[in-house]
Order: sequence, then structure tokens, then C-alpha cells
Amino acid sequence: MITIIGAGRVGSSAAMRIADLNIDDVLLVDIVEGLPMGEALDIGQSCNFDVDLRGSNNFQDIKGSDLVINTAGLAREPGMNRLDLTRKNFEITKSIGEKLKRYAAGTVLMQVANPVDLMALAQLKVTGFPSERVIAMGNMLDTLRFSYFIAKEAGVSPAKVESLVLGEHGDSMAPAASQAKIEGKPIKEVLDQKRIDSIIERTGQAGGEVIKLKGSTFYAPSQAIAILTEAIIKDKKTVHPTSAYLQGEYGVSGVYAGVPARLGKGGLEEIVELDLDDNELSKFRESCSVLKGKAKELGLL
Ligand code: 2OP
Repeated sequence: MITIIGAGRVGSSAAMRIADLNIDDVLLVDIVEGLPMGEALDIGQSCNFDVDLRGSNNFQDIKGSDLVINTAGLAREPGMNRLDLTRKNFEITKSIGEKLKRYAAGTVLMQVANPVDLMALAQLKVTGFPSERVIAMGNMLDTLRFSYFIAKEAGVSPAKVESLVLGEHGDSMAPAASQAKIEGKPIKEVLDQKRIDSIIERTGQAGGEVIKLKGSTFYAPSQAIAILTEAIIKDKKTVHPTSAYLQGEYGVSGVYAGVPARLGKGGLEEIVELDLDDNELSKFRESCSVLKGKAKELGLL
């Protein structure tokens, strides 16, 4: 069973995608009376999948979850960056962590509410779960956006593009052009450096661009959640951009940041260390330093 905490637009869109893919039964939990039950009924009544969808206002119902996806928290408003949410979402995150410890101590946890990398570290500390069972969805979304912009610029389908964004799901993110390919061909052979630089720039601002236009993001975030969820629940052991607890990988320790990671039913199986170019590696480490500074301010380090 997959539990999604928070039946707002990100949580309910994720429930719909997970159901559409027939990944597993879904429980939506929210403190707003009626909301998760209403979302579960509305999604369920599309009648095009076999999994069971339920809603609940009661945290005790999360017992037996194999994966909990935590979308609960305040969302960014136009002009805010993700770190502006830190203080308020820290309190919400800690209280969810306490509930997980109490009712679903064996689950894998995917943190989604922002700032994801810092909130995953908070969850690690509050729950006391082993780090392989606490991950966050952040750079998966940034990577989808990077691939999308590459595809548009090159005039190909995004399905033909493979790419990777590392580091913070935030202003210091590090898109790795060395890992970006169109049907196996490095993008440097297809696009000139000026166009690549402008794609990197736009990727860094992509969430804010959508929020400015429509007030929030949820279709792309829910797709990123569904990709990671499928890898975990179906025990696929495939490699995906994931925010994971670093213990020396890429020369960084003690924080969560976006890296490529192998996922399976126990959560994180392995952080994959790729050959990055020197500039990308130093951008990634700088991004981790930003996260470390914020983690210290919160008393997490
Ligand atoms: C996004 O990038 C709000 O972090 C969210 O869409």
C-alpha cells in the first residue's frame, strides 16, 4: 500500500498517476475533513484501473504502508524561492515524522514538500529510519524539466532525451550537460554552448516560471513522484535522479542532495557515482554547501 500525505494538488495528481499505472493501492491522508475521501472517490470513479483508492483523515490508517509520500506543507507563492518555506514546513515535517515513527515505522518515505532536501534530512533525524528508507523527490522533477527544454530546443520528442540534474532542488541546482543525450548522442554534438547555457538557466528557474504563470506546479511533480514510486514498489532496481543522504559520495557527507540512485523495494539501494566534468562536480559541491549552511541554521547538523 502507498500512502500519500496531503491531498492537495500535488498529492491528488500523484494518486491519479499511480492509480493509472496500476502500481499499488493508494491511501490519501489529509487533515482537511472530507478532502482525501472526495479526491479518492473522484479519481476512483474514472474506473480505469484495478488498484484500490481510499481517503482518510486519520493517521492511524497509514499502518502497513510500504511507501509514504509526504506532500504536506505550504507551497511556494509567486516570487518565493523554496528555501523561503523552510521554517514553516520544518514544523509540519517534524510532526509528520513523529506520526510515521508511531504508525508506519517500517515504511520507505519519499519527502516531496519543500525544501525537499532539507526536509528529508529533518525526516531522517526525526524518524530515526535508516537512510536507505528516506529519500526525496526533487532532482527527478528538475531532470524532467531539463530534458523537456533540451527536446524543445533540438526539435525532438522528450522521450528521446536523457539528462540529469544534480544537487539542491532549488536555486543552486546543478544540471549536468555532460550526462545529457539525444538518442545516445551527447547534446554538445547537437546544440551549441550558448543554447545549452540558456537551457541550464531556464531549468533552474522552471518551477518559478510555472508558478508565476498559473500559481502552482503539480502535473510535472506528480509525474516525477510516479516514476520513483514505480521503481520502489515494483522493485525495479533502476537508476533515477533522487535526493539521497550522502555519506562520502562525490566527496560530500551529511546532507541530502540530488544524485543518481538505484531504487528498489527497500528504498535506496545505491548512489551511482558518474564521471562528471570538473565544473559540474564543483557546482554540485557548492550546491551541497548551500544545503549544509541551511541545515546548520535549522540545527540539523
Ligand atoms: C517545483 O519545482 C514547487 O518545487 C516545486 O515545481
